[in-house]
Amino acid sequence: MLSRAADFRRYLVPIDTPSIQQWFTDCAVIGAGVAGLRAALEAAEGCRVMLLCKASPEESNTWNAQGGIASVMGPDDSLDEHVADTLETGCGLCDEQTVRLVVGRGPDLVRQLIDWGTEFDRVDGRIDVSREGGHSKARILHAHGDSTGRGIAETLLRKVQEQPAIHTMDHFFAIDLLTDPEGRCLGVIGQRNGTLQIVWAEATILATGGAGRLYRETTNPPRATADGLAMAYRAGAVLRDMEFMQFHPTTLYVAGASRALITETLRGEGAILLDRDGVPFMSEYHPSAELAPRDVVSRAILDRMLKTGSTHVYLDVRHFDKTRFARRFPLINDLCESFDIDVSKDLIPVRPSAHYMIGGVKTDAQGRTTVPGLLACGEVASTGLHGANRLGSNSLLEGLVFGQIAGRRACADRRNGSAEPRFRRLHYEVPVSDRSRLDTNDVRNSLRALMWRNVGITRRDRHLGEALDIVGFWQRYVMDKVLDSPYGWECQNMLTVCSLMAQAARSRRESRGVHYRDDYPEPNDGEFARHIELSRSD
Ligand code: FUM
Repeated sequence: MLSRAADFRRYLVPIDTPSIQQWFTDCAVIGAGVAGLRAALEAAEGCRVMLLCKASPEESNTWNAQGGIASVMGPDDSLDEHVADTLETGCGLCDEQTVRLVVGRGPDLVRQLIDWGTEFDRVDGRIDVSREGGHSKARILHAHGDSTGRGIAETLLRKVQEQPAIHTMDHFFAIDLLTDPEGRCLGVIGQRNGTLQIVWAEATILATGGAGRLYRETTNPPRATADGLAMAYRAGAVLRDMEFMQFHPTTLYVAGASRALITETLRGEGAILLDRDGVPFMSEYHPSAELAPRDVVSRAILDRMLKTGSTHVYLDVRHFDKTRFARRFPLINDLCESFDIDVSKDLIPVRPSAHYMIGGVKTDAQGRTTVPGLLACGEVASTGLHGANRLGSNSLLEGLVFGQIAGRRACADRRNGSAEPRFRRLHYEVPVSDRSRLDTNDVRNSLRALMWRNVGITRRDRHLGEALDIVGFWQRYVMDKVLDSPYGWECQNMLTVCSLMAQAARSRRESRGVHYRDDYPEPNDGEFARHIELSRSD
């Protein structure tokens, strides 16, 4: 019943191709975070590329990434150890081949970034590496202190601007992937400057990023509304592991202000979590204390908040050298100062927030989805790297590696002729609905609050069932309408993806990685050491 409500529309807007402005390209890349930029650069080696960006690149999750990029760069670390840490954190659901691929290619791609101009921070001329939870070694490279994502994105953007084969269109809101009757992806329909536009492409690379905005509390920027996941689902792609949303333990908690990431690297460098009574508590929950995996730290914080009747806990960095702190963590220093928090004297109030979508569009080792002609990379993809829990700072690395792989695949398909153009005329109508209209703003806010309460860090069957009922109700009144703005389409996408996440979370009757069920608190390998896949045809 619920799937029907989510499934009944193939496209969000009516389509009549002759009346729509059209573009033709070899390869359309949707998204301009690290994965999209890297994919565009690689595809441009053999294709004409259109790089479509929802807003501007500064608004991506990549741009906001603080902690860094994990990679084995020195002799006191090894690929095997990085692989082992990733597998251990992934709780039995990583694809070992994918892990070896990403970890193995990482160092070369990071060195390439350095050659292209990324200035990772150094101490005495050597790259300075930090440690984060779940890593057995310090292997997190960072740039401009805590602005690593920006450092990497600026480098890639500069390369993109120098590449004549790439045509960039920003403020292009991708509404839907177009498919032919056999299910092959033909490109994308979107809106730019208030008008519908179609980009026909031999290969389409989805790199639309994350879904943190499905939750009231999130580290993600406003654009992270899960559009790529919803588009891929409507186009018939298999989505995998949708129950695995990673929560970041520490975001700044100032009532009334939007949440902001406080990088895990702080704990890697010695910051201590204290409860409202000033008591350090992490060693009561895990032998690695502050450096336990993120899911453990997030749940420990929630438990402590509950036990002490508080809305937050604190990070203590008062023992850090003040000048070094300002140099090493300039973003966080400025953020704290803007709320009159002097980190040398005051504690930093923090609580967990939705951070990273581990599940996504299922891909193979070539970045191919189950929809011919459609590739995916970055946060929107489920490549098998993260399993049930993502090791911090592995995702910028994954974006680089799979961005390159997807771009290469697009070129190879073009060379071997398997991506022959099949541009078609499309006609799709949406019947007018006479149901009442709901207020989109209200639905979005209520949906995000519902996801936080019922599909959040701790889950149980009754709450998940209730979430499905409520989302299903909203879907009946929102999914039947033809909306005409990104804000409305985002709301439709959010409803679709929230429904899929709640379905997957309800199906996984065990606890594993970032998915914690208090009605099934243990892992159940017998039944659930496997992925949960969802598609429209199910
Ligand atoms: O804490 C952080 O800086 C986050 C890093 C990540 O999510 O990879």
